[in-house]
Amino acid sequence: MGNLESLYQSNFKKDAYSFYCNQRKHQPIFPMPYDGNSQSWIITKYDHVKELLKSNSFIKDQSKFLSSTRESDEFNIFQNMMLDVDPPDHTRLRKLVQPYFNPKTIKQLEPRIREISDNLLEEMKQKDTPVDLIDDYAFPLPIIVISELLGVPAEDRDIFRKWSNTIVSASNEMETDFMEDVQAFTTYLTDLFEQRKNHPADDLISHLLKTEEDGEQLTRNELYSMVVLLIIAGHETTVNLIGNTMYALFKHPNQLESLKNDPALIPRAIEEGLRYYSPVDFSTARWAENDLNFHGQIIRRGDLVMASISSANRDEEKFDHPHLFDITRKRNAHVAFGFGIHFCLGAPLARMEGKIALEKLLHAFPKIGLDETSPAPQWRSVFLLRGLDALPVVLNSE
Ligand code: HEM
Repeated sequence: MGNLESLYQSNFKKDAYSFYCNQRKHQPIFPMPYDGNSQSWIITKYDHVKELLKSNSFIKDQSKFLSSTRESDEFNIFQNMMLDVDPPDHTRLRKLVQPYFNPKTIKQLEPRIREISDNLLEEMKQKDTPVDLIDDYAFPLPIIVISELLGVPAEDRDIFRKWSNTIVSASNEMETDFMEDVQAFTTYLTDLFEQRKNHPADDLISHLLKTEEDGEQLTRNELYSMVVLLIIAGHETTVNLIGNTMYALFKHPNQLESLKNDPALIPRAIEEGLRYYSPVDFSTARWAENDLNFHGQIIRRGDLVMASISSANRDEEKFDHPHLFDITRKRNAHVAFGFGIHFCLGAPLARMEGKIALEKLLHAFPKIGLDETSPAPQWRSVFLLRGLDALPVVLNSE
């Protein structure tokens, strides 16, 4: 039985796909030690993953199982996050922000996303090679977009990156670094909300502040956790989409060539990037509301269950030649954005950012290639996510 946590510390990301392939065959639902009190399970098959994500038998609110006073009474910037609550709270919170992320609204952002992309490419041209495609392109693009949408100063992006990294990498929430960064993030938001209250603007934060003031639809805590969620989910993932898809293309030069010759394939290349190197490796936690038998495995009330999105997206029962990176793939019903009521709110935005990012990059630098003199790119050791630490490239690889 594989202890996922130890595996994952020792280069697990690199070997994950063969590990999961084996698990799908021999033990598709397998236990992982969690915190000593409850058992946790990883689900690896595509059909099971979809079933889990849409099932009402698994819930998000763990406090239902805690006998002590409800944690949700205490203030912290993660409490009552939309991603971690069930209906009716989930429905109410999602409804508040949904209009900002509809395909129609997102379409209006297109010219600005193109402009941001052009500016970043222009800056890259001025740099000495190799250039880091993550630091100089894949990271700034989505963080600038989500900052502008929210109304957060985009110049502060490096500090968000630090806080965000601490939060998504946290293995122990009592660590000093974690607590300090969370405190700094909280203070930052308090100041920002104060300023925005005095000078409302046409942005999502001003809208949420007004809703909070009206008092019925959004609590103070929900306001903080919504903004934290949108900042983190709004960039940590899309950085990976751009970085991982370009990495897969560099490793498959014939596909990169076809894409350059036929940019109309870009949307499909993005879908294949989402499937092949899924930017989010796992769904977030769900908890079994009652004891149940899930495809032969007894799962107890209060057990934690997580879906391996990257495993589902390589399931041979669902995809033809799942380990093949193929930008012309026709049947590609991947679950990279999840499934069910928590299906990614930002999917239309992420898809548009990915499409523009690739289109502009390949147009500006048709001879872009991996920098062979730098060390091979490494996967970040962040449990939930799949993304590269750095992606050194030469812009004119001839
Ligand atoms: C939820 C993936 C980009 C905001 C999710 C979930 C996944 C996901 C798998 C569901 C998690 C679960 O069920 O446990 C991705 C990927 C992205 C991406 C792969 C980029 C390639 C974005 C962007 C935003 C965003 C750009 C910007 C706002 C959210 C939010 C949720 C969510 C708010 C929670 C929705 C809910 O609870 O109803 N995302 N995401 N995501 N995502 Fe994304």
